[in-house]
Amino acid sequence: MPANLLIPPHGGTLIDRVLHGSARDEAIARASQSPRLILNEVGLADLELIATGVFSPLTGFLGRADYERVVREARLANGTLWPIPITLAVSEAEASQLRDGEPVALHSADGTLVGLLELHERYTADLEREATEVYRTTDAAHPGVARLYAQGPVLLGGEIWLLDAPTSPFQSLHFTPVASRRAFAALGWRTVVGFQTRNPIHRAHEYIQKSALELVDGLFLHPLVGATKDDDLPAEVRVRSYEVLLRGYYPATRTLLAVFPAAMRYAGPREALLHAIARQNYGCTHFIVGRDHAGVGNYYGTYDAQRIFDNLHPSDLAIIPLRFEHTFYCKTCSGIASSRTCPHDSSHHLTLSGTKVRELLRAGEAPPPEFTRPEVAQVLIDALRTA
Ligand code: ADX
Repeated sequence: MPANLLIPPHGGTLIDRVLHGSARDEAIARASQSPRLILNEVGLADLELIATGVFSPLTGFLGRADYERVVREARLANGTLWPIPITLAVSEAEASQLRDGEPVALHSADGTLVGLLELHERYTADLEREATEVYRTTDAAHPGVARLYAQGPVLLGGEIWLLDAPTSPFQSLHFTPVASRRAFAALGWRTVVGFQTRNPIHRAHEYIQKSALELVDGLFLHPLVGATKDDDLPAEVRVRSYEVLLRGYYPATRTLLAVFPAAMRYAGPREALLHAIARQNYGCTHFIVGRDHAGVGNYYGTYDAQRIFDNLHPSDLAIIPLRFEHTFYCKTCSGIASSRTCPHDSSHHLTLSGTKVRELLRAGEAPPPEFTRPEVAQVLIDALRTA
């Protein structure tokens, strides 16, 4: 089966804006004559995600018409579903060095030339409006809103080219959409469920993944490894914990671990849509949306990120969301369950807050095995001991 028959990419075309050979040489020559811009961690990640097709159908950083409609209606100017503005923000001083219609050389913080922006237009972000519509709050204590407020006021719109993919500490787990689609086809999977996470896999996560795996051919375990807030566990530790878990408890021919190099925005419902679109581009046919997906603090209702899928038109999105209720271990049922499957009240349930789990791990104690597999707990204890 050709890899690209699995599911169409969002918007119909899998974007590829990675330059090779003489086209790359020419772009490097143009870049050497162009003003330069240093991308921050999020900009660098977005550049790679656009260029490798993860953000298909985007071909660059949003221009004004797309930006305004995305903020207002979660759609590009042409009506395609697009929930989060993927923008390149700079200061007034930086913007004044650039000219519309001319290329800009994009560099990483260490000075490496990574890409080229065909600058089309410069315009002003409406930060309060973006915060209200996209994040559903203007509270600067929200980590996504804080990042938004800290950015420069001018947005640069235009198509991009990637000259060199940023190096990743997880190179062997780094699959572009072309590579994951190939891998799914080689494994013989026709249906694949994507799982987004920024946390270690506890038993509740394992339960919803395996419930999904009862229905589809493969699980694409796809932890986000881009920028996260400081108190989220570092990606290296999480990846180690996924590896021990997969080794011990998951069927090797029905599970593929790969990393998602995107930054976390903590935008709850809107980000759940972005996560689903990206996983469709990677070739997934299904996507898990559990409790408070991509949420933070108390900004979103527990199931807001599921509800946002209910309002879509059938032609908006091909990937199918698999909605899961809050799951927990029930001592009386002797298993993981949710309010859909367990008749007992919360006094029967084992619930541990994230804070409590961290406290235990810091003290060198494993949470109960009904909550976390001992092998996973050990990786986390070792990491916190050396932190
Ligand atoms: S997220 O920010 O990446 O969404 P997290 O890693 O905690 O955070 O969650 C990964 C996925 O598992 C999300 O779809 C989330 O909704 C789901 N999830 C996490 N914990 C539970 C739970 N106890 N019950 C049901 N779904 C959950």
